[in-house]
Amino acid sequence: MKSVIPAAGLGTRFLPATKATPKELLPVLNKPVIQYVVEEALEPEGVDEVVIVNSHEKPQIEAYFGVDQEFEDMLRSRGKAKEADAVHAAAAMPVTFAYQDDPKGLGHAVLCAAEAVKGEPFFVLLGDYFVPDRQMCVNMAKVSAEHGNCSVIAVAPVPADQVSRYGIIAGECVGSLPGVEATGEEEGAVWKVTGLVEKPAPEDAPSHLFIVGRYLLTPRIMELLETQGAGAGGEIQLTDAMERLLAEEEMYAVVVDPLEGCDTGTPAAWAATNARMALNDPSQLAAFKEALGPVSL
Ligand code: G1P
Repeated sequence: MKSVIPAAGLGTRFLPATKATPKELLPVLNKPVIQYVVEEALEPEGVDEVVIVNSHEKPQIEAYFGVDQEFEDMLRSRGKAKEADAVHAAAAMPVTFAYQDDPKGLGHAVLCAAEAVKGEPFFVLLGDYFVPDRQMCVNMAKVSAEHGNCSVIAVAPVPADQVSRYGIIAGECVGSLPGVEATGEEEGAVWKVTGLVEKPAPEDAPSHLFIVGRYLLTPRIMELLETQGAGAGGEIQLTDAMERLLAEEEMYAVVVDPLEGCDTGTPAAWAATNARMALNDPSQLAAFKEALGPVSL
C-alpha cells in the first residue's frame, strides 16, 4: 500500500525564499518539512512506499531523498558519522516520484499518482502539515477496517467565518475511536459522511467540520478523477470527486484536534511550528530558550 504526498506547488506564500528552495525542503529544526510528512506517511501498517507528486522544476526534492555516497563518505572520513547516518536515513526511505508539471488542482495532483498506486487503497497526506506522533492516519486505517475498508478522512471544527477556505463535510456522528467517549465534534468522534463541498460560502456550509489534509481513499477515486471537471477556483478538486464517490461507497470521517499536527503552510505557521518543535525537543529546549532570550507574548 502507498501514501501519496502532493508536492508540485509553487510555494508562492514563501517567496522569495522558495525561488531557489522548494517549500517542502524548508527546515523544521534540522529536517525538511517533507521528511516529517514522509515519516508520518510510512507509519500505518501496510504502507511500504511514499509517492511524492513533484514537478520537474523541483529536482532538489529528489536529490534530498537520493543517495549521495561521496558526500556520506566525506562526512565519515571527517569523523561525522552521526551526520552521515542522518543524511543516509533520508536517502534510505522508500520514496518514489510521480510528476505534475501543470498544476491543475489537488484532484489532478492525486490523479498523477494513479499508475503508482496501481488500483489499491492509498493515503493522501497534504505536505503543509505534519503530525509528530504519526497516529492520525493510523486511527483512520482502524475506522476503515471496521467499515469494510471504505474511504476515511480526518476532519476538525473550524469557525464559521473560515469555512470558505476548506473542504467541508455533511454527515452525522455515528460512534468514536476505541476507548474514546465522543458524540459530536469532539476529538475521536467518528462521522458517517453524507456530503462534501469544497470552499463553500458560510451560508452554504453543511457543517463546521473541515477536511484537515489526511485521506485514506479507495482506488475508485482515481477513475472518478479522470473525468472530474474543474470546481472551486477553476481547479480539479479532490473534494468534488469524493462527493461523487459517496454515491457509490460509504465514507467516514474521524474528528481530530488540528493542534495534534503542526502547520507549515505560511511563514507565521512555519515559524510557530519550529518554536513548538524546539520547545518539545529535550535536546533543543535549553539552547532554544537561551537563543530566544526574554520574550513576552
Ligand atoms: C485543500 C483541500 C481542502 C482541505 C485543505 C486542507 O485545500 O482542497 O478540502 O480542507 O486542503 O488544508 P487547499 O489548502 O489546497 O486550498
